[in-house]
Formats: sequence, structure tokens, C-alpha cells
Amino acid sequence: MSDENLDSLVYVSSAVRLLSHEEIDYLLRRARERNKEYEVTGILLYIGGNFMQYIEGPRDNLDVIYKIIQEDELHSGIILVSREAIEQRQFGDWAMAYQTRDVEGYVGSPGERKLIEMILEMPGDNQSTAQIVLHSFWSQNRL
Ligand SMILES: Cc1cc2nc3c(=O)[nH]c(=O)nc-3n(C[C@H](O)[C@H](O)[C@H](O)COP(=O)(O)O)c2cc1C
Repeated sequence: MSDENLDSLVYVSSAVRLLSHEEIDYLLRRARERNKEYEVTGILLYIGGNFMQYIEGPRDNLDVIYKIIQEDELHSGIILVSREAIEQRQFGDWAMAYQTRDVEGYVGSPGERKLIEMILEMPGDNQSTAQIVLHSFWSQNRL
């Protein structure tokens, strides 16, 4: 996997309506398939009807995936929060990690959940813009 020209971006959006577990499952399955193909990794947070997603990958591929995401009619009000070049991936093992505060809606394993929480709640001096906004979205929505 070539790690030259790696870019990352974060956006927020709102689901157009209450999404079922099946819809989230389907969305994640399709996202993971395509992200693998395009060498894109990242994390999707879904809290109270709002999404925040972080994606990283080769610059041109990231453009392709972000365009597909923007065209999905399941969400609207998409706002790009940050876009920046990165030296290395932060979610290298995750075609698309998923985390929600709605425990019933959670589709991953407890181990996966714990790992993502550790990443999101990780304090540090050397945080990227992406980490800071992910962390703040996650913390402000704490129930
Ligand atoms: C919040 C959100 C996040 C998404 N993230 C991704 C993603 O990371 N990668 C991707 O390829 N598609 C992503 N999508 C798009 C959908 O996965 C995909 O377009 C949708 O499931 C339609 O599937 P289809 O490709 O079978 O038409 C996202 C869509 C939404 C609403």
C-alpha cells in the first residue's frame, strides 16, 4: 500500500430521518467494501441523529469516496470540518470503524468498541485537528 500523498478529512452531517439498524448495517457493509478497494480507512460516529466521519487515504481516492458519501441521500447538511495531509494513518486497520452512543444500535464486538473508545478518549499533546474534533464530538455528546 502506497502511503504517499495521504490525506484525511472530517465532516459532520445529519441523518434525514431515524435510521434502522439494518440501514446502518448495510451502509457500513457497502462503505467497508468500497473503502478496502480504495485503500481508505477511518471511523464513523453516529450520535443523536448526527454523523461525524473521519476518512484517510491516498488523496485522489479520498476525493472519490467523499463524493460518494456526499451523494448519499440518507444524510444532509454535510459540513467539511477539516482536510489535511497526514504522514501516517490513524485508523490503518479499520476499513470503517463504527461507534455510537446508542448501545442497542451498536453492531461491533465489545473488544472493537473498547479499542475505538480508547482512541477517541486518548489525551495527548500531539493531536491532529481530526483527533481534536472527533474527541470533542464524542465527549460533548456524552449522555
Ligand atoms: C454517514 C455516511 C457515511 C458513509 N461512509 C461511506 C464510506 O466511508 N465509504 C463509502 O464508500 N461509502 C460511504 N457511504 C455511502 C454508502 O455506503 C453507500 O453509498 C450507500 O450504502 C449506497 O450503497 P450502494 O453503493 O450499494 O448504492 C456513507 C454514507 C453515509 C450516509
